[in-house]
Amino acid sequence: MEKPDSYTLLVNLIKNRYSCRNFKEKPVSRDTISTIIDAARLAPSACNRQPWEFIVIDTDDLRRTVIESYDRQWIRSAPAFIIACGLHDEAWHRDSDGKDHTDVDVSIAIEHICLAATALNLGTCWVCNFNTDTLRTGLNIPQNIEPIAIIPLGYPDTSAPLPEKKRKSLEDITKWGKY
Ligand SMILES: Cc1cc2nc3c(=O)[nH]c(=O)nc-3n(C[C@H](O)[C@H](O)[C@H](O)COP(=O)(O)O)c2cc1C
Repeated sequence: MEKPDSYTLLVNLIKNRYSCRNFKEKPVSRDTISTIIDAARLAPSACNRQPWEFIVIDTDDLRRTVIESYDRQWIRSAPAFIIACGLHDEAWHRDSDGKDHTDVDVSIAIEHICLAATALNLGTCWVCNFNTDTLRTGLNIPQNIEPIAIIPLGYPDTSAPLPEKKRKSLEDITKWGKY
């Protein structure tokens, strides 16, 4: 199949995104962070409910709170964090079984953030293994708003080639027709 340039651009962007765990000290401007969040704003969501909010952390005192909630050395190097939050009260719940689609919607928005950041030569990483109580208390996040992921954001500190993508094969994940 012949692929148009737009496809090549998109796939290169997808391939260039990786979990960055080492950042330069260089700060990320608020203008750049707003540009990235604007890409999240355009994400699709079930019934267009947009059940999300993004908390930006780029000051040293609040960075310490985020770091406290995820006690790994590498995260200390990130100059900024975006906390992607889900608004369960606003999300669409499926009629047939009541399934809450907050996580689905917020995940799409987060990936828009990661891809937009990649396009701006910034590194990101999804972080979900944080202590929710520590984060909630430290950032005054109300109980009806769920912090779903921390996205560290910064300029990657590496001259090493991109890490190899370890993925299942296309054959392993595609079922044509009935299961
Ligand atoms: C929902 C989700 C949660 C994740 N949580 C963490 C985490 O807490 N800490 C971490 O270092 N990486 C985390 N990751 C990053 C994954 O380990 C990473 O995406 C995966 O190994 C594939 O590598 P790649 O992102 O470089 O392609 C998470 C990724 C996703 C999608």
